[in-house]
Amino acid sequence: MTTLEQADKQYALHPFTNLSAHQADGPFIIEKGDGVYVWDDQGNRLLEGMAGLWCTSLGFNEQRLVDAAAKQFAQLPYSHMFTHRSTAPAIELSQKLVEMAPEGIGKAFFVNSGSEAVDTAIKMVWYYNNALGRHKKKTIIARHRAYHGITVAAGSLTGLPYAQDGFDLPAIPVMHVETPHHYRHAEPDETEENYASRLAQSLDDQIIAAGADTIAAFIAEPVMGAGGVVIPPNTYFDKVQAVLKKHNILFIADEVICGFGRTGNTWGCDTYNIKPDIMTCAKQLSSAYLPIGAVLITDHIYDTFQQYSDQLGVFGTGSTYGGHPVSAAVALETLRIYESDKIFEHVRERTPHFKERVQALQNHPLVGQARSVGLIGAIELVADKASKEQYPAANKMAAQVMAAARKRNLILRATPGDSVAFCPPLIINDDQIDEMFDAVADALNEVHRSL
Ligand SMILES: Cc1ncc(COP(=O)(O)O)c(C=O)c1O
Repeated sequence: MTTLEQADKQYALHPFTNLSAHQADGPFIIEKGDGVYVWDDQGNRLLEGMAGLWCTSLGFNEQRLVDAAAKQFAQLPYSHMFTHRSTAPAIELSQKLVEMAPEGIGKAFFVNSGSEAVDTAIKMVWYYNNALGRHKKKTIIARHRAYHGITVAAGSLTGLPYAQDGFDLPAIPVMHVETPHHYRHAEPDETEENYASRLAQSLDDQIIAAGADTIAAFIAEPVMGAGGVVIPPNTYFDKVQAVLKKHNILFIADEVICGFGRTGNTWGCDTYNIKPDIMTCAKQLSSAYLPIGAVLITDHIYDTFQQYSDQLGVFGTGSTYGGHPVSAAVALETLRIYESDKIFEHVRERTPHFKERVQALQNHPLVGQARSVGLIGAIELVADKASKEQYPAANKMAAQVMAAARKRNLILRATPGDSVAFCPPLIINDDQIDEMFDAVADALNEVHRSL
């Protein structure tokens, strides 16, 4: 074990890590990156099949982002947005985001992470309902298997036990409803459309049972990411939106993974025809080169805020680094690169090949379902294809595939539901897609042989 590895074990507390396993195995140290590849401290070059944490859209050495940061650091390394202050990068970024956003979105508010964006969205929903005198309308509906972050409120909306156990979450009024996963939860022979209708009916029933005057908002990732890349069934969001509208419930689209081209369109909302009241974004907003997130709201919500803040004296939320000029400059440059290099078109051009390679895995004896949209996908592992029965959790099948892929210099991620996720940088090319899925196929074979 190197001195650096020793020091990590001695001093660092790692997020989402089994701490005992870490003491035994030590860290996985990444030293440098280039394009879709990173190098570990042993000199191995690995294809980053997860774009870090679903975020480094432009890969690992985009010089234009380095230059944008350096320029802004030299000019003004810090300023804030409290009490009317601003900077050119923050203003230009607000404008650009609003211009890119779906119809109706009129204002952008900056934060430093996806979790903070979701927390802020929740506060905004409460503020909005208080402004309208709807003081009981506070519960947020989320879905089981959703991932919305880890702060006290966002972590309450996350619907994954491993992110809540031991932390006394949920700690805010939240109602978790069904995961829209046709492969796993539909009745035999139930079409996607019928399944979507059943989920929408169930949502309606649960809202009525709780009392619509207590339900403030529904939050959804257009495609569930960390919960296992769960792609919604046809017509699901159309039907859900109709139910929400009927009960005056706001739609928060959590675009932290889907936003900025991941599903082949600018937003996951575009792919699934969602008309959000509030959107949260982060990650690919800056290609993850610096921490920044945003909450985007409709003009209608803003107008309500404006009147209420007048009454209260101030719109009393925000943080020291929200709209940090260097993060904003890098995010702005990222959005410019998406346009100038036609990155979202590139995603759409790569999508058929990516899909073909994902779909080919469907034939593997371990794969129950292979699914993808744009450049995000997953395989769900099963012990029996016909019954869809899975291996016991203790077998950690997805983690085994992830480990076998690592031996082949490919970084993947084991996600809940024994699914292995794929989410490469958006700049990946067809040869690299082949390299990635050749390694996935080999990794699956290795795990299958070992059974
Ligand atoms: C959909 C979604 N929302 C929120 C978050 C939380 O973002 P962060 O890790 O930046 O706090 C994530 C992180 O993966 C996410 O995928």
